[in-house]
Amino acid sequence: MKWNTELYNSKHAFVYQYGEAMIDLLDPKSFEKILDLGCGTGELTQKIKEKGSLVYGMDSSAEMIDKAKKNFPLIEFEVMNAEVMTYHETFDAVFSNAVLHWIGKPAFVAHNIYQSLKYGGRFVAEFGGKNNVLNIVNALQAAFEKRGLTFTKFWFFPSPAEYATLLENQGFRVALVQHFYRETELSDNEQGMKDWIDMFGNNFFGEISADLRKEIINEATDKLKVSNYKDGKWFADYARLRVIAVKEK
Ligand code: BEZ
Repeated sequence: MKWNTELYNSKHAFVYQYGEAMIDLLDPKSFEKILDLGCGTGELTQKIKEKGSLVYGMDSSAEMIDKAKKNFPLIEFEVMNAEVMTYHETFDAVFSNAVLHWIGKPAFVAHNIYQSLKYGGRFVAEFGGKNNVLNIVNALQAAFEKRGLTFTKFWFFPSPAEYATLLENQGFRVALVQHFYRETELSDNEQGMKDWIDMFGNNFFGEISADLRKEIINEATDKLKVSNYKDGKWFADYARLRVIAVKEK
């Protein structure tokens, strides 16, 4: 997926703003070596650096890494895919915010994260869990199917039990797993939902023409007005999964 980093920063900054609570959960220490997996434009990577840690940012998107390097030239950033990364007992912690639902092959990713950690190291992550953006997905699916179009889901939104088991299968001890709802206000009041679908739902549309895409988004958004629009504001029905998992000595 190609990212428009300007749009991401101007209209979807909540992605990393909410992530700041995750820095507290990570609790980075001075001189700890930490990997920010899926660092995007680097805002949270910088927050980790400010705690005195030796932080590295990686993201599979060259556009994001380009922007991250410009934003924070003192941090080492690299274009890398978590499905194929090959670190070996390198990090005290691997951190990831709002990314893992985008990556296929979750067992490979968990394996690579396990390999990349030193013994005693921790994996601290938040991403979309079961039922994440369910209203949005259902509204889009209905608009696709009404037109006889195939609707293919592509995000990975596991239940807490499913993800904890996946981590345990890699050897992790799961110290914390939480699943909770967080209605998230979208930036621009009237356009908020359309912008969100345009930006994050791009993969649903494949070869669909611009006109048809617009028609589907309009129809889905009209439907969502009942459930996701309150007091003049759009909300995304986020359900988060938070984990801390430890590579035992
Ligand atoms: C999320 O952070 O849960 C998310 C963001 C964009 C698309 C899907 C999920």
